[in-house]
Amino acid sequence: MSSNGSCLRLGIVGAGNIAPLNVAGYLEDPRCDVAAVCDPVPGRAEAAAASWGVPRAYHDLDSLLADPDVDAVEILSPTHLHYEHVLAALAAGKHVSCQKPFAHGVDEARALGEAGAKAGVVLRVGECFRHYPPLERAKELIEDGAIGRPTHLRIRTVVGQTDAAFQIGLDANGYLWRLDGSCPGGHLFDDMVHKYAMALWLAGKDVTSVQAVVRRRDYFFEPCAAIFEYDDEHLLGSMEVSYAPKMWLRSSYYGADEFFEVQGDEGFLWVTRCTGELLDLPALVLYRGTDNHRTTTSFTNLDADWGAGFRRSSAHFVNAVLDGVPPVMTADEAVKVLQLCFAVYRAGKTGERVDPRTVTGRVVAEGWTAS
Ligand SMILES: NC(=O)c1ccc[n+]([C@@H]2O[C@H](COP(=O)([O-])OP(=O)(O)OC[C@H]3O[C@@H](n4cnc5c(N)ncnc54)[C@H](O)[C@@H]3O)[C@@H](O)[C@H]2O)c1
Repeated sequence: MSSNGSCLRLGIVGAGNIAPLNVAGYLEDPRCDVAAVCDPVPGRAEAAAASWGVPRAYHDLDSLLADPDVDAVEILSPTHLHYEHVLAALAAGKHVSCQKPFAHGVDEARALGEAGAKAGVVLRVGECFRHYPPLERAKELIEDGAIGRPTHLRIRTVVGQTDAAFQIGLDANGYLWRLDGSCPGGHLFDDMVHKYAMALWLAGKDVTSVQAVVRRRDYFFEPCAAIFEYDDEHLLGSMEVSYAPKMWLRSSYYGADEFFEVQGDEGFLWVTRCTGELLDLPALVLYRGTDNHRTTTSFTNLDADWGAGFRRSSAHFVNAVLDGVPPVMTADEAVKVLQLCFAVYRAGKTGERVDPRTVTGRVVAEGWTAS
């Protein structure tokens, strides 16, 4: 069956560390047939194909793109390859889902968006945080007015240690390309693009100004405190990133944890878990305090497993291609996410306010050498 029918025939590009989490949602989707996988590391595509029950394994992208029984691709290759891989897939007429970060620069991301529009296929950026049930529910509550008018959005990330089997099982080679200087930045680029995507999506508004202090620690970690002004004089945002190499935390995935707080003029929302499971608190808590009504609601029935965001993101791509459901993260939104990321780096370097909407190209973080 083709994507015009009721089944999407998918090719996986890259079978590295994050592939199993992304592929799980496609494998369990009755409307998706994972038809092929490609990876240049000898034996890796074959091993992935065997473990996922996928019929065809290739060693290069061209062979996978030449497969007439592949309608769409999920691009899970290293970030510096996204630009050429997305362009090649679009040129081959495939629908494309590409992992974050979409590209290494704003101009490249824009060019990909234009190429996608010209190709007339679905092009979306995979952003698992936008499909994480506690965050999806938080957004619905904000839009329903549960906290009144939003006044402050706070996103906190801490990176620590974990003994999660997932993290112990990661192939260290998957970090080499992140650390070899070919990326425009470190953790504030690689991971925090998720949080910039949330800062824009939860607010539903553009950020108009960024102030930031950015530091550099071990590996690629970049502690940061940033302040966002939005296209709404009532709304401010703040983002905090800290590095706690001696702190162990509970996680089933990476050794990191997030905390989201959205303050409104009638209440607030907390999302208390995401990548990690640091706190023994419900994943989503709503406090609403009006004149004669003060209530705290704990949302305990949500799927708060971080992996759910990946599975739902995969299902969403299938729905986008087969049913025309608008992608939750388009190329245009990925451009804004990259602009916000680079605005943080620029504000950190200059100590000045930066309007992300004016950022073009890329801003290479202090200590990085990407050309
Ligand atoms: N939460 C998330 O959404 C999330 C988490 C981690 C990583 N990612 C993103 O997923 C991508 C992959 O990250 P990773 O941690 O799995 O890296 P990784 O290095 O472990 O995996 C990348 C794989 O791509 C393969 N590859 C290299 N060149 C290729 C080519 N030309 N064609 C096909 N495959 C090729 C590599 O051999 C490797 O197996 C990155 O863009 C990363 O930012 C997203």
